Amino acid sequence: MGIIYNEKDRIFKLDTKKTSYILGVADDYGHVVHIYYGKKLRGDSNPVGMSSVDYKNKHWFFDGAWMEYPTPGIGDFREHCIEIKTEEGYSTLECAYDSHKIYKGKPKLAGLPATFSDEDTCTTLELVMVDKLVGLEITLLYSAFEDVDVITRSVIVRNIDTKVIKLTKVLSACLDINNDNYNGITLHGSWGRERHIQKRPIGHGRQGVASERGVSGHQDHPFMALASAGATQTTGDVYAMHLVYSGNYEIQCELTQHDSIRMVAGISPYNFEWTLEPEDTFTAPEVVMVYSAEGIGNMSRNLHDLYREHLIRGKYRNTKRPILINNWEATYFDFDTDKLLAIAKQASEVGIEMLVVDDGWFGNRFDDNRALGDWVVNEDKIKGGLKYLVDEVNKLGMKFGMWFEPEMVCPDSDMYRAHPDWAIEVPGRDAVRCRNQYIADITRKEVRDYIFDSMCKVLKSANVEYVKWDMNRPLTDIYSAGLPAEKQGELYHRYVLAVYELQERLITEFPDLLLENCSSGGGRFDPGMLYYSPQIWTSDNADAIERLCIQEGTALIYPLSTMGAHVTDCPNHSIGRTTPFDTRGKVALAGTFGYELDVTRIPEEDRQAIPGQVAMYHKYNDLVRAGDYYRIASFAENAQHDSYMVVSKDKTEALVTFVQVIAIANHGMPVIKLQGLNEEYTYHVEELDRDINGDVLMNIGLPIKGEFGDFKASLYHLKKVD
Ligand code: GLA
Repeated sequence: MGIIYNEKDRIFKLDTKKTSYILGVADDYGHVVHIYYGKKLRGDSNPVGMSSVDYKNKHWFFDGAWMEYPTPGIGDFREHCIEIKTEEGYSTLECAYDSHKIYKGKPKLAGLPATFSDEDTCTTLELVMVDKLVGLEITLLYSAFEDVDVITRSVIVRNIDTKVIKLTKVLSACLDINNDNYNGITLHGSWGRERHIQKRPIGHGRQGVASERGVSGHQDHPFMALASAGATQTTGDVYAMHLVYSGNYEIQCELTQHDSIRMVAGISPYNFEWTLEPEDTFTAPEVVMVYSAEGIGNMSRNLHDLYREHLIRGKYRNTKRPILINNWEATYFDFDTDKLLAIAKQASEVGIEMLVVDDGWFGNRFDDNRALGDWVVNEDKIKGGLKYLVDEVNKLGMKFGMWFEPEMVCPDSDMYRAHPDWAIEVPGRDAVRCRNQYIADITRKEVRDYIFDSMCKVLKSANVEYVKWDMNRPLTDIYSAGLPAEKQGELYHRYVLAVYELQERLITEFPDLLLENCSSGGGRFDPGMLYYSPQIWTSDNADAIERLCIQEGTALIYPLSTMGAHVTDCPNHSIGRTTPFDTRGKVALAGTFGYELDVTRIPEEDRQAIPGQVAMYHKYNDLVRAGDYYRIASFAENAQHDSYMVVSKDKTEALVTFVQVIAIANHGMPVIKLQGLNEEYTYHVEELDRDINGDVLMNIGLPIKGEFGDFKASLYHLKKVD
């Protein structure tokens, strides 16, 4: 396993448990070509011989060749990965293999979030290519994660010339594969309905997903998979790319004239121009690549394991999170110390473990028109001060957390009045005031320092153990007063780097802090943010039925442990639907689990149900957080019911969730064939009080108990019989 170099064939072979990735140096010039990615192959030689293109004599275009990192201007007319402008004004690049290194472990990426690994599970190849004429060096980084069947890629570009080179596009990875009637799987959405799964046949031409919002966004997602025709949860070939980045991106697939597919991923070239002075480097964010020969579910589980074991950090990465109660939907801006303590008192009595005070505790923030940037406790609301409030909450045996939106500044704020140039806006133009706020120009160090210092002051003034870091608008009016004209094209990426730097500073200063990212719900739910926070608020929409689709799409690529999920009051504040309190609890169980309601005002029957839900969370969270996830049925596909399950790694325990969304008269119950169990084991199904063999559960199915009515959720807990 690991990575080998076959010097004779000039082939690099990257092996994981079940996959192989092969690339090579094709000719005397040193063109680096792609050879294979798929099911694991034996041996270390070139499996089929190099491509038929005669690279050396250049008697033909590169248009049919499989390239590892395609460059423009040399006859490869498909999507390429890099674009430059030289001082002379040309942009053609033709790189040749220069050198390589293979080593155990994985390097960090400067300033960027990235997966990590110890030397036992991961091997890295650094392959250096050079265009001597331009004076540009491109290092392709590949890490093979043997345990989770993942290959990660990144790129470092270095100016080895004496003149300035402008980069106008730097993608992170390219993959050429033969077509097999693939369907593209992407995640699409909007505010309140994030990450719905979308499938479409890959046709000729370019297609894919992108964001030009400055954040990864609610709308599309930095993820794309190609699934062979007819692929299911358990069968078929799946190739996936997932970008570890939180700003503008693109992932494109192109079905070419030669019936192969080129897939590329990286930072969007939109409004991107990076100046490389001599010896400067630019590091492109990481792309996570998965190949699964066992369908979509196996891809999901590999990504889940990768993110749980090799991306998420900190005290909470493998531990149960406190059950929180957030006051946003309970009070909105209308709260004070007394109201918060009344909520905390009732919450502590029913077993809730942490109070989170959301938007509105600072400055002159009585509504969403003002005060972002003024991170000073408003003692008209928080009477007695923050420390008093937190101490009282702690006395109830609860932890305390609070909300910030650090990247913002309102025109009506002391921060903006003192520093009007600290907002991202074009001088002389009225900037878009989305939700009456501008983006703070955190690409400037003094702005970052101001924000960080103000946050630290608040966080150090009381025992604050959780922060919800929100970001409620996309970037517009792109201009920084802190950058010269020729570097304005760097602003989008510098912004993302600044977010990363700020969050890194925060978790370094407060290593025990539980950080939850948020962006108008799940508008910046991406692997980049997971490097800093083990959980992200999945959506402002906590309606149990809409959440089935949102959580299905999110869990397609993210572990359940990362999905912020709350039980809220009904009618639901986002869409007005009423669902049973019990169903809301069981659906939220698939995520971090918490509450977002005024526990002093909900129906008595609901309040009395909370201790039972709290017990349910404590009983199942270890399994849900750390187990293997299997998708059984999708309400988004069948418009009737939804089902998923989590199986412990040793296969001795499982939890099945079944939601009967729409009841159908005189209709047989759906067949719920379980997955991931041990066929040899017998399981006791607690809710049926029956012992059933694993092979029966997986081949005949779990007998579901019919319910009367819509929106009914049930759990089935399976334990191996000794
Ligand atoms: C965003 C978040 C919500 C809440 C509000 C507060 O919309 O997604 O959860 O924090 O901001 O303004």
